[in-house]
Amino acid sequence: MFGRKLTLLAMVSAAIASGASSSAGIQPGTFTAQGAFPTSLYTNYYNNPTATVSQVQPVISDPVTQKTYPLALTDPDTIPLNNTVDPHPLPPPASPSLVLAHAIAQVQSIATNPIFGNSTCARCQAALEVGKFVALTTPDQGPALVVALCEYFNYSKTCETSYGPLALGPVITQVIANADVGGYDGQSLCQNFLSLCPVPPTSPLNLTSWFAKPKPNPLPPPKTPSGTRLKVLHLSDAHLDPRYATGSESNCTSGLCCRENNVNTASPNRTLAPAPRYGAYLCDTPFSLLTSALESIPPLTGTQDTGFAWTVYTGDLVSHDPDNQLSRDYIMYAETLIYDLFKRLLGSGPVYPALGNHDSYNQAQDAPYSIGGYLASQFSWNYDHVAYLWQHEDWLPEAAVELARAHYAAYMVKRQDGLRVITLNTDLWYRANYFNYINLTYPDTSGMLRFLTDELQDAEDAGDRVWIVGHVLSGWDGTNPMANPSNLFYQIVDRFSPHVIANIFFGHTHEDQLSIFYANNGTNMSAQTAQAVSWIGPSITPLTNLNSGFRVYEVDSATFDIVDAHTWRSEVNTFPALDSQLQYGPTYSYEYNTRQAYGANFTWGPNDPLNATFWHKVTEVMEADPSLVTTFNTYQGKGSVLTPPCTGTCATAKICYIRSGSAPLARQNCPAGYGSVQ
Ligand SMILES: *[C@@H]1O[C@H](CO)[C@@H](O)[C@H](O)[C@H]1NC(C)=O
Ligand SMILES: *[C@@H]1O[C@H](CO)[C@@H](O)[C@H](O)[C@H]1NC(C)=O
Ligand SMILES: *[C@@H]1O[C@H](CO)[C@@H](O)[C@H](O)[C@H]1NC(C)=O
Ligand SMILES: *[C@@H]1O[C@H](CO)[C@@H](O)[C@H](O)[C@H]1NC(C)=O
Ligand SMILES: *[C@@H]1O[C@H](CO)[C@@H](O)[C@H](O)[C@H]1NC(C)=O
Ligand SMILES: *[C@@H]1O[C@H](CO)[C@@H](O)[C@H](O)[C@H]1NC(C)=O
Ligand SMILES: *[C@@H]1O[C@H](CO)[C@@H](O)[C@H](O)[C@H]1NC(C)=O
Ligand SMILES: *[C@@H]1O[C@H](CO)[C@@H](O)[C@H](O)[C@H]1NC(C)=O
Ligand SMILES: *[C@@H]1O[C@H](CO)[C@@H](O)[C@H](O)[C@H]1NC(C)=O
Ligand SMILES: *[C@@H]1O[C@H](CO)[C@@H](O)[C@H](O)[C@H]1NC(C)=O
Ligand SMILES: *[C@@H]1O[C@H](CO)[C@@H](O)[C@H](O)[C@H]1NC(C)=O
Repeated sequence: MFGRKLTLLAMVSAAIASGASSSAGIQPGTFTAQGAFPTSLYTNYYNNPTATVSQVQPVISDPVTQKTYPLALTDPDTIPLNNTVDPHPLPPPASPSLVLAHAIAQVQSIATNPIFGNSTCARCQAALEVGKFVALTTPDQGPALVVALCEYFNYSKTCETSYGPLALGPVITQVIANADVGGYDGQSLCQNFLSLCPVPPTSPLNLTSWFAKPKPNPLPPPKTPSGTRLKVLHLSDAHLDPRYATGSESNCTSGLCCRENNVNTASPNRTLAPAPRYGAYLCDTPFSLLTSALESIPPLTGTQDTGFAWTVYTGDLVSHDPDNQLSRDYIMYAETLIYDLFKRLLGSGPVYPALGNHDSYNQAQDAPYSIGGYLASQFSWNYDHVAYLWQHEDWLPEAAVELARAHYAAYMVKRQDGLRVITLNTDLWYRANYFNYINLTYPDTSGMLRFLTDELQDAEDAGDRVWIVGHVLSGWDGTNPMANPSNLFYQIVDRFSPHVIANIFFGHTHEDQLSIFYANNGTNMSAQTAQAVSWIGPSITPLTNLNSGFRVYEVDSATFDIVDAHTWRSEVNTFPALDSQLQYGPTYSYEYNTRQAYGANFTWGPNDPLNATFWHKVTEVMEADPSLVTTFNTYQGKGSVLTPPCTGTCATAKICYIRSGSAPLARQNCPAGYGSVQ
C-alpha cells in the first residue's frame, strides 16, 4: 500500500516533469495522502519522525561536499540572525587620493545635478556632508579637498595659500568633522562663507535656566559718586607692522600696502606713492608711528607724573598679513613687544588687555575646549604666553592669570578700588572663527559666556561694579558677531545692567563708534529703557583710510561711570611731508570732548555720567538734527580726509546701529551697508 502510492506519486510528477500532454496513464478519480509521515523516506532523522508536534528533521548529506547539515541549520527554534561564516567581500579600501578624487567628483555632481533645482542651500549642505565623510575617514585629505573645491568654484585667487595644509585647511577639516553640517551649523557655514543659504533664525534661549537668580527688583540703589575722577586710557588696534618697508608702494592694489611684496599692478616697476616713515592710509602701523603715539599720550593727557589709573586695550596687536605669512612666533613677537612698550611708555597703572582676532594663529581662530582630545589645547600656547606676559608686566595678580590660562585668555581682575574688570576672547563669537560653526544652535559652546555670567553674578552678590573688555563688538551693524552668542550677550547685559555693568569696551572696527543696550531685548528703545553702553575705541592703525587715535576717560572713583571722554588723533595725510626732515614726528591733537560734542541740546548735569541714558538722548537729537550725525561720522573716521559724507539713509542707519547692541537687532532693524567709513 505505502509502496503503491509512492509509485503513483512518482508517475504523476514524472508526467508533469516531462510536460507530457498525453492523457495516457492519468488515473481519473481522487487520492488522499496518509496522515503519518512516510518515515522510510530517510534513514536518519534528528528528531522522531513519527511525532506530529513538529516537522521531521531528516539528516541530509551533501553528495558534493560530503557535508552533513547540522540540525541547527533548520531547527525552527534556533534560527540564526546573522551569518558570520561566509559574508560577501567588501570592496578594497580606496587610497586617500582616490577618496579625494571621488569626493571632489561628488561635490561637482551635487553642484550640477538638476535634482536640487534652484536650491543653492541644499546643494551646499549636501556638499558639506560629503566633506564630513572625508574629514572623518581621511582627515589628511581634508585640506586638499578644501583647496580643490576653492579652485573649482573660483572662491578665491589664493586657494592654496589661504586654505591649504599650512593655512586654514586643517581648521576647516576639524570644523567639518565636528559640525552638524546637515543642520543649523551647515546652513550657517553656507550662509556666512558662501552666501548660498538664507540666514538661519536665531535660536531660542532659556534665560530662566541660564541665570542663577532673576534680576533684582527693585535694583539695589546706585552707588553715590565720589566726585573724584580717575584718568583711564583706552587704546585699540595697534596692528604694529614690523615688516613695514619705508619707501615701498603705499598705494598698492591688493593686500597690505607699504610692503615690499605688494605693488600697484598698474605700475609694478615704479612706486606711485612711496610709504612715508610714519604710515599711510592703506598700511598698518610702522614702529615709528606706534612709538610716536605712545610718547604723545602722557604729555597730552597730563599723566607724565601720575600715569593712568589703568588702561584698557581692546585687542589686535598684529598686522593684517595673510595666514601664510603669519606664524606663532610672529604673534608672540607682537605680544611681547607691544606689551613691553605699554609698560615702559604709559607710566604706572596696569593695562587690561583683551585678545583680538589678529592676536591668534591662524588669525581669528580659537577652538572651544569642548572639541576634546588634543584639539582642545591647540591654542593654549597663546593663552599661556599672554597670561605670562600680563603677569610679567605686573598688570594681573596670580588669580587672574590662572583664569586667563583656563578661559581662552579671558579673565576677571578685582581691583583694590572695588572695580572688577572682566575680559572676553571675542573670537568665540566672531563670524570669521570657523570653530564657532560647531554646535551653533547652542549659543555658548565655548563656555565663554558662562564664565562671564558667573563672574557677573559674583560681582552682583558682592555689590561690585564691572567693566567688560573685549575686541569684536557685539552689535553696531551686526556684520561681525554670530547671531546666537551676541543675542545671549545682549540678554546678559540686560540682566546685570545698570547696577553691575558700568561700561563695556570693544575695538575691532578701527572706528570711533558705540552701541547702546536696552531692556526687554530692545523692544522699546527709550531713554528710560537704555541700560548700558559699549564704547568702540578708535584704532592706532590708519588701516583703512582712517586717522590714528586714542581716548581717555574721566571715571568716577566710586561708581566707575564715565563722566568725561577725550579723543585725540593724528592726521595721516600729513605724514608724507614729515619725510623731508628729522626734527618732527607726527602730531597728535585733541579731536573732541564727548560731552561737549554731543550733550549740548538736552539737559545733562556737569557731573552726570555719559551713560546709556545720555547716549539715547544723543540719538534722539540726531533724529531731529542730522547735522549731529555728520559730526559723528567725521569722528567715526577720526577726521580722516577720506571719510565719505553720511546723509539720508546713511544717517538713519547710523542712529539705528548706535541703538543695536546685538547682531540680530541690527540685522532686523537697520538698513545694511553703512557701518564703516572706510
Ligand atoms: C552576529 O554574530 C556574531 C558572532 O557570533 C556575534 O558576535 C554578533 O553579536 C551577532 N550579531 C547580531 C546582531 O546578532
Ligand atoms: C526656485 O524654483 C521655484 C519653482 O521652480 C520657484 O518658484 C522659485 O521662485 C525659485 N526660486 C529662485 C530663488 O529662483
Ligand atoms: C571658474 O572660472 C572658470 C574660468 O573663468 C570658468 O570656466 C568656470 O566655469 C568657473 N567655475 C565655476 C564652477 O563657476
Ligand atoms: C527653562 O528652564 C527652566 C529651568 O531649568 C525649566 O523649568 C523650563 O521648563 C525651561 N523652559 C523651556 C521652555 O524649556
Ligand atoms: C617691469 O620690469 C620687468 C623686468 O624688468 C619687465 O619685464 C616688465 O615689462 C616691466 N613692466 C612694466 C609694466 O613696465
Ligand atoms: C593709487 O592707485 C590708483 C590705481 O590703483 C590710482 O587711481 C591713484 O591715482 C593712485 N594714487 C596715487 C596717490 O598715486
Ligand atoms: C557638540 O554637541 C554634541 C552633542 O551635544 C557634543 O557631544 C559635542 O561634544 C559637542 N562638540 C563640541 C565641539 O562642542
Ligand atoms: C516704551 O517705554 C516708555 C518709557 O518707559 C513708555 O513711556 C512707553 O509707553 C513704552 N512704549 C511701549 C510701546 O511699550
Ligand atoms: C545715567 O545717569 C543719569 C544721571 O545721573 C541717571 O538718571 C540715569 O539713571 C543713568 N542711567 C543709567 C542707565 O544708569
Ligand atoms: C542743537 O544745538 C545747536 C547749537 O546750540 C543748534 O544749532 C541746533 O539747532 C540744535 N539742534 C536741535 C535738534 O535742537
Ligand atoms: C531679540 O530680538 C532679536 C531680533 O528680533 C531676536 O532675533 C532674538 O531672538 C531676540 N532675543 C530674545 C532673547 O528674545
